[in-house]
Amino acid sequence: MGAAAVPEEAAFEKPVDRGEPILQVRELVKHFPLTQGIIFKKLVGAVKAVDGVSFDLMQGETLGIVGESGCGKSTLAKVLMNLEPATSGSIRYKGEEITKLSGAALKAVRRNIQMVFQDPYTSLNPRMTVGDIIGEPFEIHPEVAPKGDRRKAVQDLLDVVGLNPEYITRYPHQFSGGQRQRIGIARGLALKPEIIICDEPVSALDVSVQAQVINLLEKLQSEFNLSYMFIAHDLSIVRHISDRVGVMYLGRMVEIGSDEEIYDHATHPYTQALLSAVPVPDPTARDARGRIVLTGDVPSPANPPSGCRFRTRCWKAQEKCAVETPALTVRQWLEGPAAHDSACHFAAEKESEAPPA
Ligand SMILES: Nc1ncnc2c1ncn2[C@@H]1O[C@H](COP(=O)(O)OP(=O)(O)OP(=O)(O)O)[C@@H](O)[C@H]1O
Ligand code: SF4
Ligand SMILES: [Mg+2]
Repeated sequence: MGAAAVPEEAAFEKPVDRGEPILQVRELVKHFPLTQGIIFKKLVGAVKAVDGVSFDLMQGETLGIVGESGCGKSTLAKVLMNLEPATSGSIRYKGEEITKLSGAALKAVRRNIQMVFQDPYTSLNPRMTVGDIIGEPFEIHPEVAPKGDRRKAVQDLLDVVGLNPEYITRYPHQFSGGQRQRIGIARGLALKPEIIICDEPVSALDVSVQAQVINLLEKLQSEFNLSYMFIAHDLSIVRHISDRVGVMYLGRMVEIGSDEEIYDHATHPYTQALLSAVPVPDPTARDARGRIVLTGDVPSPANPPSGCRFRTRCWKAQEKCAVETPALTVRQWLEGPAAHDSACHFAAEKESEAPPA
């Protein structure tokens, strides 16, 4: 078998129908080498930040990604954005493999997949005007806005994100946190992308401002037909904005499904523990739900447990869990909304405590 053909730029122009996969990720791996020694660096292992992640992102949807700090969410985002090379695995955008692209085809993909970062204070260059920050992507992709049209294009973008188009000559420090995140979003939109990966886009903002930025993202999604990946710690925000949710633990996806399947019918013990820690306004509802307190630290991603990575903290763990890695799949004993992808040998909704035979 010969090497796979390198796709032409035009392959990324074709439209994808709503609800069809726009991004297909299979067995994606990103390991960071661990070295020892100063002059003679010796390879002593690897941080398995992303270690075999598979999922689809559908056109027009918002896929939320949740999981504890260090589970690999940002690394996943960077690999999808081609900011970090994948160690192995496959990412197909509109059916074309993009992990090994270079030149014009890579440029075309980079244009179509954009990112909004967590910290609006550090992600904007303080020495550049807002106009230059938002218009900078046009330097690399002049075809989107020829030089004479740029000022107008930037002003339109400011208007779209709810900022005064006259602010074009101001500097980032002259704006509040929420306004800066709007600038970050305007920059992300400049090249008319199809996919936006939002990595904790509201975590650094005041609660009162978070809702405004979320509303803006939702408005832009329907206006520009965008597909979102939305990474966040806050499970309530993720539920609000997501159509589907993926839960990560130690570099792997442990459960994925619609927001109803995950929030009301979780079958993976880790998801159940995460959800039980979410504050609920009604104390009776909280008591009925029961709180699961996870014991033990998250193991090191350089040396994850064998079999199921969650087993060192799982109250349901059995011998099988140490020897066999559970596949992310639908277990045949589950029915209705509980029948969704879950990487647990004994997947079950919380009510039924007895593990299936
Ligand atoms: N460039 C790097 N070199 C070595 N290790 C890295 C690098 N980037 C990330 N890691 C490690 O990979 C693991 C995953 O990190 P990552 O930033 O993807 O987690 P995260 O889920 O985004 O966490 P957070 O919620 O805190 O943002 C961590 O153990 C981290 O220390
Ligand atoms: S496979 Fe075993 S250790 Fe892993 S979540 Fe399921 S019961 Fe727990
Ligand atoms: Mg992160």
